[in-house]
Amino acid sequence: MKKKLLLGLLSLIGITGFSQTSDTSVSIIPEPVSMVKGAGYFALPDNISVSIPDLPELKATILLLQQKLAATGKRTIINGSAPVASLQFVLNKTVDKTLGNEGYRLSVRPSGIVIKANRPAGIFYSVQTLLQLLPKEIESKTAVAGTSWNVPVVEITDYPRFGWRGLMLDVARHFFTKQEVKDFIDNMARYKFNLLHMHLTDDEGWRIEIRSLPRLTSVGAWNVKRVGYFGTFSKPGADEPRNNGGFYTQDDIRELVKYAKDRFINIMPEVDIPGHSMAAIASYPELSCTPGADKYQVISGESFIDWHPGGFDALEDNTLCPANEKVYPFLNKIFTEIATLFPFEYIHVGGDECAKNFWEKSDAVKQLMQKEKLKSMEEVQSYFEKRVEKIVESKGKKLIGWDEILEGGLPPNALIMSWRGINGGIEAAKMGHQVVMSPTTFVYLDYMQGDSIYEPLVYSVLRLNKTYEFEPVPDGVDPKYILGGQANIWTEQIYNTRHLEYMTWPRSLAVSESLWSPKEKKNWNSFARKVENNFGRMDLEHVKYSRCLFDPIFTAKKDARDSLLIELSTEVEGLDIHYSFDNSHPDNDYPIYKEPLSVPREAVMFKVVTYRGDKVIGRQIDMPVSELKKRAGLIK
Ligand code: ACM
Repeated sequence: MKKKLLLGLLSLIGITGFSQTSDTSVSIIPEPVSMVKGAGYFALPDNISVSIPDLPELKATILLLQQKLAATGKRTIINGSAPVASLQFVLNKTVDKTLGNEGYRLSVRPSGIVIKANRPAGIFYSVQTLLQLLPKEIESKTAVAGTSWNVPVVEITDYPRFGWRGLMLDVARHFFTKQEVKDFIDNMARYKFNLLHMHLTDDEGWRIEIRSLPRLTSVGAWNVKRVGYFGTFSKPGADEPRNNGGFYTQDDIRELVKYAKDRFINIMPEVDIPGHSMAAIASYPELSCTPGADKYQVISGESFIDWHPGGFDALEDNTLCPANEKVYPFLNKIFTEIATLFPFEYIHVGGDECAKNFWEKSDAVKQLMQKEKLKSMEEVQSYFEKRVEKIVESKGKKLIGWDEILEGGLPPNALIMSWRGINGGIEAAKMGHQVVMSPTTFVYLDYMQGDSIYEPLVYSVLRLNKTYEFEPVPDGVDPKYILGGQANIWTEQIYNTRHLEYMTWPRSLAVSESLWSPKEKKNWNSFARKVENNFGRMDLEHVKYSRCLFDPIFTAKKDARDSLLIELSTEVEGLDIHYSFDNSHPDNDYPIYKEPLSVPREAVMFKVVTYRGDKVIGRQIDMPVSELKKRAGLIK
């Protein structure tokens, strides 16, 4: 009783050195550059006075702060008459060279909080950090009673490692509404991402209004709705309604650009050409090299590319024809309109996975090769990219493309986005080009996060701990060429916004830490603990996320007698895996996995569930023994 009373008194005067400064109470993602924790805390007063520069760039930041502080049930007074505000945000008059444009210093003392930055972006990021220093209930949409609104005493100096901290959202395979994109932007902003790359066009849809080319959206934005396994769907019949999809009007785009800018995020548009262009070809078939293109339709998830060990061939020609002079004025119209809509300095022109089998058959392409002395199909694509670069640059923009645009010769000023591993990035950097790293091996967020036995099926797995290993600067590359990195969320198998969130989080937390925090500050165990803490915030924000990091990893092996041996491991430390072979649902009264297991003779099902202490933390996984035998090569 007495101890309780003492703690209560100490907490009233804000000088306790107990739990407030323990590791679990400060859990900031991405990890700040420097964070020195002290004793005690600042308790938010009943009237929270805030002084903050009254600038148009900070209007949305102020609104965010007010909305969040409403969860405390206290009164927030912005730029009122308090002689010393509880929260003081200051823009430096003399530039603090350490901080750059996006950094900040945040000082919490028992008497109040002072934040300093050179630029409004730093103020915005400091608010994101401050919110993470407050109890998770700050994320509640309604006022929360019974929470101690204390901010631990801490001195933070923080600024990003990279200037390009991106997420790519594919709105072409499945369309996401303007509001859904805004929600995505809000989630990005919390973790200090500053670039949203919108993949706006593909075989399955054209998502941006181009006023001079109306068929791109009247035809190109629509296909036939299917659910199941995208890429295996039946080809739509002529009588099936083409009413699935959508597009952003130019007003929508302006609204999104402004919404993102208010959160210090740029939007980079991608028009994926010359491949991945069936939506454009279905709208304007005269842009193809291939007779019969007027019969083509926007793809609805049916298979139309033959992927084989040596590469891929299109079964229908989904490319813009580099030898067709109509293509370039068409692109000129598109990039003219796009350049006026997006202030960001780069336009992404795709360039990936361009099937060339129809070009090989085209007389027009053969003539182009003769005329331009092009020796290969890669050089034909390079010819195309160089002309595209001139168009993009004529609009005052710079060109960026996927790493395929290296093949056959790079456009002179191009920025490369390295996705097929890191080699494209290394090659481009060695040629003196700038690079954004986005390798499948670490940051392809369309891949499954856990075992295919329970995750929605995609062709590859990328666990959180592997994403956390993402290092944008490859060995031997001069860091000055690496602008940063981004993760890509392709949406072939993502049909709705809740699943989009599930695939994005928590892996994007790992990406944010790889792009913002100093390399030497990264630590998997500490990050995993922060992720776990952060889930409570995401619950209150109603953001869906994957808990796969708590599920065991199965390894199936043959033992010396050619019988199945099951090994289990976990991504996260400190978990117990309980299991059964008798078809019943395991709980923490069941055996704990300690060493590789042999399977009882007639068992058909291996069930596992993970606990942290006495709390269940993973989901129950039912793994058929036959599946494990297949993986071990014991049966077909
Ligand atoms: C890509 O993933 N095709 C860039």
